[in-house]
Amino acid sequence: IPVDAFDIVIFGGTGDLSQRKLLPALYHRYLDGQIPDDSRLVGVSRSEMTDKAFREFALKACKASAGKDFKLDDWKGFEKMLSYVGMDATDPGADWAALANALSTEDRPTIFYLAVTPKIYVPICEAIGKAGLAKGDARVVLEKPIGTDLESAREINAGVGAVFPEDRIYRIDHYLGKETVQNLLVLRFGNTLFEPLWNRTAIDHIQITVSESVGVGDRAGYYDSAGAVRDMVQNHILQLLCLIAMEPPNSVSADEIRTEKIKVLNALRPLTAKCVDGETVRAQYGAGTVDGKQVKGYLEELEDGESDTETFVAIKAWVDNWRWARVPFYLRTGKRMRSRHSEIVVQFREAPHAMFGEEQAQSNRLIIRLQPDEGVQLYVQIKEPGPGGLRVQSLPLNLSYAESFQVRYPDAYERLLMDVVRGNLALFMRREEVEEAWEWVDGLLDAWADSKTPIYSYSAGLEDGPVEARMLLREDGRDWWSNG
Ligand code: BG6
Repeated sequence: IPVDAFDIVIFGGTGDLSQRKLLPALYHRYLDGQIPDDSRLVGVSRSEMTDKAFREFALKACKASAGKDFKLDDWKGFEKMLSYVGMDATDPGADWAALANALSTEDRPTIFYLAVTPKIYVPICEAIGKAGLAKGDARVVLEKPIGTDLESAREINAGVGAVFPEDRIYRIDHYLGKETVQNLLVLRFGNTLFEPLWNRTAIDHIQITVSESVGVGDRAGYYDSAGAVRDMVQNHILQLLCLIAMEPPNSVSADEIRTEKIKVLNALRPLTAKCVDGETVRAQYGAGTVDGKQVKGYLEELEDGESDTETFVAIKAWVDNWRWARVPFYLRTGKRMRSRHSEIVVQFREAPHAMFGEEQAQSNRLIIRLQPDEGVQLYVQIKEPGPGGLRVQSLPLNLSYAESFQVRYPDAYERLLMDVVRGNLALFMRREEVEEAWEWVDGLLDAWADSKTPIYSYSAGLEDGPVEARMLLREDGRDWWSNG
């Protein structure tokens, strides 16, 4: 469904996010006929560049994303919408009139996308306000991470909030734009099957894994000051946990969903210095092999070769409420793991009576595969065919997205950008969500510092994290699903 014409200004227009995600996302939405061609897309960066050069930059980016489906004819229409303004948006003497001139004079929403370091979110918003551009229906989009801790997040939220009202601030977590993540809502609340069992009575534990095979590459500077907890847990993993653990919202409206998610974050048990060593594992990758090629260890990727930043973390988390009492949530994420896969595993309890013999007793397991090979598997117990008595096997009922839907999956940014244009905040984070998540994460990081939690190591590309992460579950008589 086409949206109304809009203007979008990308600060950091020639940066990595703009190149890899934002420009291609807008291009694909245009190709699908969703973006009217009198919309305007303005790139802003400090470097001087002509409109022509920016269009060439965008052409390369969109070509790389569309691959063999790229058609020059389609591009011609899209490129007409693109223009560029070179300015340092934090400089008080910057020429905001040039940016204002690049925007349409018609009454339509202007979207300011801040694809820059969070340190300059507030000065840019203040300058937008001063230039008189925050008026009317103007919206601002903030990329994660919103700050580096609770205090800096509060400062950003207050500073941005002084210019834009909360309902025009879109805090992006691109995991919420992924098809399979949105499907969590439908799976849980569109079926009668799961919800009655979705609690401590039937569920033994839950695992959330976001495993990446890439290393930190050329983001080492940023990554070393962040680590896996700030980079992945504070946002993506906690968002997934919220969707799995939250109570049914009354509707899919933004406020209903966000209010339920905040309750989950509120119920997360703080990790203290006393318990942190028994409930978390932190680690760094060492040298190893990926796709048959030798790759460097984390420290070798850093300029000074020294760091105790974690590239892997495993956490046993607890949601202290009625529904989830005594049900552990095992969370883990890491770079340079054995493979790229993200999944949520809901492990049900064993049947109360082992009618087919203790040795054959197994339990149901629901696996929600987020990427790649998106799909849902429900393991059920089945009789093995044959005359040899009642032999039981555990086999999956298998729903594969690729087999069920022969369509192109839009990238998360395509969905989220169009939601910004439509004014739908449901898949964006409210101020309190970000701050609650930081509060829990700050507690964890402080606890690590206080108890001098050791950093373990694992071989790049060869392991699913360190052996200590396996022990975290083994001690509870459990195992990570991907470990078999
Ligand atoms: C980003 C992190 O938010 O998410 C990256 O900063 C990470 O470190 C990326 O690689 C993972 O996203 P995806 O969509 O590839 O799973």
